[in-house]
Amino acid sequence: MPRTADPALVAALRADLAAADFTVDRLREVLGPVAHGALSRDQVLPAEVITRGSCDPAAILVRLFTLGDPVEAELVDRALPRLSADGVVRLGLGHWEGDALVASVDLRPYGDQAHTWWVVSDQGEAATRAPLAPDHVLGIGAASTTLAQWTPRRRVTRALDLGTGCGVQALHLSTHAAEIVATDISERALDYCALTAALNGQDWDLRAGSLLNAVQGERFELIVSNPPFVITPREAGLPTYEYRDAGGHGDAVVEHLVTGLGAHLEPGGVAQLLGNWEIATGQEWTTRVHEWARASGVDVWVVQREVQDPASYAETWVRDGGHQSGSSEFNRMYAAWLADFAARDVAAIGLGVVTLHRPTTDREPFIVLQDVRGPIATPMGPSVDRGLTARVWLAEHDDADVLATAWTAAPDVTVEHHFIPGQADPRVIRVRQGGGLRHTEEIDTAAAALLSVADGELTAGAALTAIAALLEEDAVDLTARLLPVLRSWIAAGIVT
Ligand SMILES: C[S@@+](CC[C@H](N)C(=O)[O-])C[C@H]1O[C@@H](n2cnc3c(N)ncnc32)[C@H](O)[C@@H]1O
Repeated sequence: MPRTADPALVAALRADLAAADFTVDRLREVLGPVAHGALSRDQVLPAEVITRGSCDPAAILVRLFTLGDPVEAELVDRALPRLSADGVVRLGLGHWEGDALVASVDLRPYGDQAHTWWVVSDQGEAATRAPLAPDHVLGIGAASTTLAQWTPRRRVTRALDLGTGCGVQALHLSTHAAEIVATDISERALDYCALTAALNGQDWDLRAGSLLNAVQGERFELIVSNPPFVITPREAGLPTYEYRDAGGHGDAVVEHLVTGLGAHLEPGGVAQLLGNWEIATGQEWTTRVHEWARASGVDVWVVQREVQDPASYAETWVRDGGHQSGSSEFNRMYAAWLADFAARDVAAIGLGVVTLHRPTTDREPFIVLQDVRGPIATPMGPSVDRGLTARVWLAEHDDADVLATAWTAAPDVTVEHHFIPGQADPRVIRVRQGGGLRHTEEIDTAAAALLSVADGELTAGAALTAIAALLEEDAVDLTARLLPVLRSWIAAGIVT
């Protein structure tokens, strides 16, 4: 399935997929909620039971391209009348096993709230029933959707998808970017990406190259990257996987991107990426990430979403390659991971999301490092967009500007008052954000009063003067005490 695939055959496949209504909604309908749910956990059996013997074109396509089952030529011809089973072989997407066609790729519908697409990648373990190959080209995984959910969808002229793989992020970019450059070190990945693009009527600038080498001297308004961030021991004989490991030591790849991507952003441009970082014994997670942020020369906002100890991190990634717990190969790799972390005195590994923003002026860049583990808004992109706008405003305005502004409490913010039974005054007042990072904090009576009058009419300065009079406090002291609180609310989106 090279990039030079016959356009007439690709067009026939595209028309057949559309005619078969091979969409996310139809797939859910054909499989039903149980089999569909099982498939999302990489369990193919319930879907096999439901689709076996079905003549529905969408069900035949699921068997062929998602479950990896051998399918009789007659059925394939029925589901793909323009391309035909022979055409699938000529496109390099399958081979014959006797009278049955066996797909050699995974092709499945995928979409967001408003779009439906087709994505082509290598088949996963569930379809091949074998461990992944080192040059495996990943389909849509949890990390792919996490990045897609976090990406701000501002309309841009030029966007970059670094480490594009099957092209899933580029598809999302196609909804709001006029021009898309997609890079990968893997030629196989670029072949898949080209087919994904063609099937969806897209024309992307595909480039082969390692990390930032493929875009030297170029700038973009938006960069997205789900990079090969997995920290991997460099021990001879251990399998490495192109899709998750770029070959550096420790977290060097993520450091390289966090510190290097800023130079590829247009003023006002944004980069959104996923990353893992090492946390040394006795250090806060922020120590290392803060060093990267300082070296980046741009605004940096990092949200750490999870922390794993070295053993659980090792288990995750040894299993991800398809190695069974307890096997000698599993134990050898597990030990190598533990030794690698021990050699650098790594106590834990942080997993999170990084947003970079290039300031449009020569102001000091801001650095925001947050640890947020619980549930958050889905999608997060709109909140990232608003959070960046608010933080840029704060970086460019002083306290007098904050006080001269009439702030409005965001519509998703609620305030809880907790009382001891029989007492008139609340024991605890808590502000709670419904969306975004679902920020909650305990506040005092004066802060609660400030929030209650944040209706877009009264400036913060006037509100604080009135509240000070009401509480019989010194207005200057109260303002000094609540200004940092107000600034943090602006940043978090509690007030807008
Ligand atoms: C985790 S996958 C992400 C794929 C896809 N963008 C997604 O979001 O699912 C990482 C991708 O980076 C590519 N990659 C690995 N090493 C690379 C390097 N040194 N330079 C550029 N891309 C690389 C892999 O081939 C793979 O396609």
